[in-house]
Amino acid sequence: MATLHVPLDRGKPLALAKQIQGHLERLIREGHLGDGVKLPATRELAKSLGVNRATVALAYEEMVAAGHARAHVGQGTFVVGAAAAPKASEPRARTPINWTGLLSRSARIAAAEEDRWRRMSPGDTDRVAVSFAGGMPDSELFPTEAFRQVLNRVLREEGDVLLQYYPARGYPPLRQYLARYLLRFGVEATPDEILIVNGSQQGFDLVARTFLDPGDFAAVEQPTYPRALQVFRGAGAQLLAVPWAREGPRPDVLERLLERHRPKLFYCQPNCHNPTGLSLTPETGRRLLAVAARGEVPVVEDGFDPSLYYGRRPATPLKALDGDGVVIYIGTFSKILFPGLRLGWVVAAAPVIERLLGAKQLADLHTSALLQAAVQRFCERRLLDRHASRVAAEYGHRRTILVEALRRRMPDSVTWTEAEGGFSLLVTLPAGLDAAALLPAAIARGVAFTPGRPFFVDDGGERTLRLSFSAVPARRIDDGVRRLADTIKAAMKRPRASTGDRAAVPVV
Ligand SMILES: Cc1ncc(COP(=O)(O)O)c(C=O)c1O
Repeated sequence: MATLHVPLDRGKPLALAKQIQGHLERLIREGHLGDGVKLPATRELAKSLGVNRATVALAYEEMVAAGHARAHVGQGTFVVGAAAAPKASEPRARTPINWTGLLSRSARIAAAEEDRWRRMSPGDTDRVAVSFAGGMPDSELFPTEAFRQVLNRVLREEGDVLLQYYPARGYPPLRQYLARYLLRFGVEATPDEILIVNGSQQGFDLVARTFLDPGDFAAVEQPTYPRALQVFRGAGAQLLAVPWAREGPRPDVLERLLERHRPKLFYCQPNCHNPTGLSLTPETGRRLLAVAARGEVPVVEDGFDPSLYYGRRPATPLKALDGDGVVIYIGTFSKILFPGLRLGWVVAAAPVIERLLGAKQLADLHTSALLQAAVQRFCERRLLDRHASRVAAEYGHRRTILVEALRRRMPDSVTWTEAEGGFSLLVTLPAGLDAAALLPAAIARGVAFTPGRPFFVDDGGERTLRLSFSAVPARRIDDGVRRLADTIKAAMKRPRASTGDRAAVPVV
């Protein structure tokens, strides 16, 4: 540690060495200085505080004598962490601020939502033999080395520009690339109709800030991605469920909701849906769009990358069918490349993009230009295409193994969605079983899943659970399904599934 600020009061009848000692010991007690941290050299600290070096040396000696520091000749003085140090003689004398009372309405809603999910989510699944709980790509398949090379290269070639503040709309070559990329799936957009964002999650947030006022209604497909619901609820919206049928969210229900409540938007994932893995049929897509256009309601399409589709017909984004321009399409590199990039995009009519751009500028000025440029190079060199076909084949293989294992091992009364894309499918348990209550028993047998309730707007779905296959090695899947089937069979023999503690892992 080079130096450290210590507030000194020269008018106080307390020696400066004592003041330094007292301040450092408080930082240690409160965990700001951890075990083993090297304290500033006496010369440095004395210089920055404008005191004599002997004063600092005295403070350190006293700390060593009191057991709060350790001196090593020739190396310096090191903190003895709060856990190892003797108990503090002075208690902390501060009146804590009542932060909860100061929170905004949306922060209180967000806190309540987090709380609710924590209660409904699976526990610590790190130690289970097979976890179907995380809806994420497999990091074992990441093309890390290839990405490192392009990152180094853009840094060398354009670092001075990319590390400066950057226009909020995004790196033009990436927007040009995306305009071409989306044509593969029938989505026609000019670079001016594309805004780069920090992942889909920021896309939802910008849409909510731009279109929702507290008290508005928002229609959402059900089941659906809980983090999107959280954003719309956080904006103060009341959510109305449009249930999924086999062909997609029901257009007749959307129509009825539009007539009765005039929602400000309709959110859905038409392809590779989380949690079911289903995709809507083009016919249902057209009907939904016709209803939305008649009701002048924007459709917020959460577009899982269509490359991760394993069915026979290619996935069609709603945006590709959007003759009236009502769709706001949100895409991401999180599923097809790395979620840690936090890189996504929004495609919409130019006036909508202008408003979302304004909201983005307020939120974070812009997305990392360095990462945008690295991803653009990665894509232009066709490294994304190569990676995408490799992971799509692998995830499709895992999905097939999972479905076959379910067919072989599950009791007849258990059903599931036949995922055609994405990372997961949704299982429905027989009547009388509750997925969240079943989870502790499943974890005890070495398998984890995500209970389905957070995916339901109306608090239903207690018999459902999501199985994510993307991050489970193929060789582990059958064993995981066996453990799950045994858990379900044991619970079916009892009148009611066991209840138990529920802790939290994030729902993604
Ligand atoms: C359906 C869906 N939409 C959006 C996201 C979040 O994507 P991003 O990482 O781009 O914010 C996820 C993440 O799991 C998801 O499942």
